[in-house]
Amino acid sequence: MSKQHLVAVIGAGPAGIYGTRKLTEAGHRVLLINRDIKPGGLAEYGIFLDKEKMKTGLRKQFQRILADGKVSYLGHVTVGEGKSLTLKDLQEIGFSAIVVSAGAQGTKKLGLPGEDLIGVYHAKDVVYHYNKLPPFSQRHFEIGTRVAIIGMGNVMVDVANWLLNYMNSAEVTVVARRGPKEKAYDDSEFEVVEKYLDNDDMRKEIERIRPNLEAAGQNVDELIQKFVKSSTPPPNQKLRFRYLCSPTKVLAGNDGKTAGLEVELNELIVEKGRTVAKGTGQHTQFPLDCVIYAIGDEVDSSLGLPFSRGAFVTSPAEASGNPHPAQYRPYDPAAKQALEGIYVMGWSRNASVGLVGIAKKDAEQGTKFINADLAAKEGFEPAVIEQKIEAVMDKLEENNVAFVTKDDVAVLEAKEREEAKKRNTWEHKYASDDEMLNIISAPKAAAS
Ligand SMILES: Cc1cc2nc3c(=O)[nH]c(=O)nc-3n(C[C@H](O)[C@H](O)[C@H](O)COP(=O)(O)OP(=O)(O)OC[C@H]3O[C@@H](n4cnc5c(N)ncnc54)[C@H](O)[C@@H]3O)c2cc1C
Ligand SMILES: NC(=O)c1ccc[n+]([C@@H]2O[C@H](COP(=O)([O-])OP(=O)(O)OC[C@H]3O[C@@H](n4cnc5c(N)ncnc54)[C@H](OP(=O)(O)O)[C@@H]3O)[C@@H](O)[C@H]2O)c1
Repeated sequence: MSKQHLVAVIGAGPAGIYGTRKLTEAGHRVLLINRDIKPGGLAEYGIFLDKEKMKTGLRKQFQRILADGKVSYLGHVTVGEGKSLTLKDLQEIGFSAIVVSAGAQGTKKLGLPGEDLIGVYHAKDVVYHYNKLPPFSQRHFEIGTRVAIIGMGNVMVDVANWLLNYMNSAEVTVVARRGPKEKAYDDSEFEVVEKYLDNDDMRKEIERIRPNLEAAGQNVDELIQKFVKSSTPPPNQKLRFRYLCSPTKVLAGNDGKTAGLEVELNELIVEKGRTVAKGTGQHTQFPLDCVIYAIGDEVDSSLGLPFSRGAFVTSPAEASGNPHPAQYRPYDPAAKQALEGIYVMGWSRNASVGLVGIAKKDAEQGTKFINADLAAKEGFEPAVIEQKIEAVMDKLEENNVAFVTKDDVAVLEAKEREEAKKRNTWEHKYASDDEMLNIISAPKAAAS
């Protein structure tokens, strides 16, 4: 058999998996390394828990891609400084290319006093919790009855959906730094929580900020028509919006837990065609039990790539415009050069931007550039490829990492399907690593 390239892909979310398909189609071998036991990333652990058709459809596609004989999978393996493996370990073993498609696992904070109180959470952690990703699945969240969600994108809608439809929260308040017109969520997604909207309150809120909206050239009557519905919310559950508010402090109660949020009131100004929030210096406070940040995520700096302002650094010369290979290559600003043989794609390249289809497109574009680079390089003999994959597994054993293979994942997924059937539900998920590892090791233990 002729020489082949071996590519390490770090992260088996949509970007890593669709990227893997393009790499194998070009004839390359892929070692897919994933933090979670199961593949799928946010398609498995982010997309809302009742989206049966979307989640099962994606799972099936991912299973087909992983079933390719050119793909090896190592799950329950985190790459990064002080983790199961480092980027340097992979570079020393020597791959034709290393692709970082690990999503955006860093937590974006606002740097407010009180941000570390019990009752302040990041949406990603909450979303991982209700989608049963260990260890978040087992973490306790002090939600209380009155919750503020900061930010008004689709993640806010998912969290509000969980709070109102699954946790029976009494009062969910969306705190947004700009106005209704600048919402980032989709109306079609919002439908699941619309019945809770406190429409009297919404009308009053838009009237409160009328002068600011008009100063920014917005037609307030049109906004009222669009945002104030005729429905009446249930007596014990309400969804409200507080616009033109930027959080400045999380307030503590006597028990040391979250008791409120202080915000600065904003005005809206139009700068270079964009509507921007500007603080007025006036503050107000809301009593609350819990604050959830849904303001997007940043990449995980511990992966070991050049990092600046929440993102991995790519070449500044090619930062915008048409897709260009340099946009997919991490760049060392000190040495003023791209890192040889390393690539980023999906949410690791553009944190918190877009749907699964966007991550897929980004990975397909990125792998086009990778495949072009590999066409100019010599690959490895098949035996060398197997030795390199073995070397990764040896390193993991040396580091006492309980990694899983794709055969192990197939055993786990079959058991989950069987359990779902027994319980007459469309899916069943094991919510702890121990449970999953026990299921995986059971057939091996029985055979030995
Ligand atoms: C709450 C939420 C709901 C969403 N709902 C929808 C929806 O309904 N429809 C839709 O189309 N899109 C939705 N999206 C967007 C979609 O999930 C993303 O576009 C897509 O998942 C991004 O893919 P990715 O592969 O770049 O990252 P991810 O999906 O985050 O995948 C990253 C993968 O990398 C692995 N990983 C992370 N760190 C490491 C590491 N250090 N070492 C090894 N592996 C690592 C993780 O285990 C994970 O498998 C949603 C996003 C969120 C946050
Ligand atoms: N069901 C779905 O299809 C679904 C579900 C979830 C997520 N997604 C996708 O996943 C991506 C990420 O979604 P997202 O909701 O995390 O991000 P998003 O759409 O970018 O929304 C983020 C929100 O947070 C606000 N924000 C950001 N920084 C802030 C700060 N410093 N202070 C106050 N507010 C701040 C933003 O306000 P400004 O506009 O003022 O910046 C915006 O309202 C999106 O592409 C989304 O469509 C899709």
